[in-house]
Amino acid sequence: MNGRRNSGGLFFFVFLTSISYLVTVTSHRCWYTKWLVTITNGVKDTIDVHIKSTDHDIGHYMIPFKKKFSWKFCSKLIGTHWTGYFLWGSKHAALALMDKEIEARCHNVSKADQSCFWLVMSDGFYLSYDNATFPAGWRKKKSWE
Ligand SMILES: *[C@@H]1O[C@H](CO)[C@@H](O)[C@H](O)[C@H]1NC(C)=O
Ligand SMILES: *[C@@H]1O[C@H](CO)[C@@H](O)[C@H](O)[C@H]1NC(C)=O
Repeated sequence: MNGRRNSGGLFFFVFLTSISYLVTVTSHRCWYTKWLVTITNGVKDTIDVHIKSTDHDIGHYMIPFKKKFSWKFCSKLIGTHWTGYFLWGSKHAALALMDKEIEARCHNVSKADQSCFWLVMSDGFYLSYDNATFPAGWRKKKSWE
């Protein structure tokens, strides 16, 4: 436990409720920015997502229609990169859920902690910095394959 704390103050735990998931991959404070990324499933079916960064594999999650999955992490000075591997029936997609470009799009200078939102629809994956009412403010980043 001590060794683990000394090696970077990393806490890793999963918090589940009946309405949504929240995974935390951070200590309470971050050296750089703390991010909260939320994926909402707008597909009328349960989708499966596997989320990984260069350092962490937070696992597979099933997200039912209209439900959300969120995770928190500390961004690194350079090279924060999270990838999502999605499955929906016979369809699949792999895309960056957080990288330099997405960080720039979602970053708000008036806020200490940052957030970014993904919406998964039957035609693909949309990004928003403020979770506005779809479709205004949502940018399509990728289609299902
Ligand atoms: C940035 O955050 C401030 C404070 O919460 C908010 O008032 C403003 O609308 C945000 N800007 C954008 C572009 O979302
Ligand atoms: C985003 O907006 C939708 C629709 O207003 C709402 O149901 C959902 O809870 C919001 N998500 C987050 C993470 O705030």
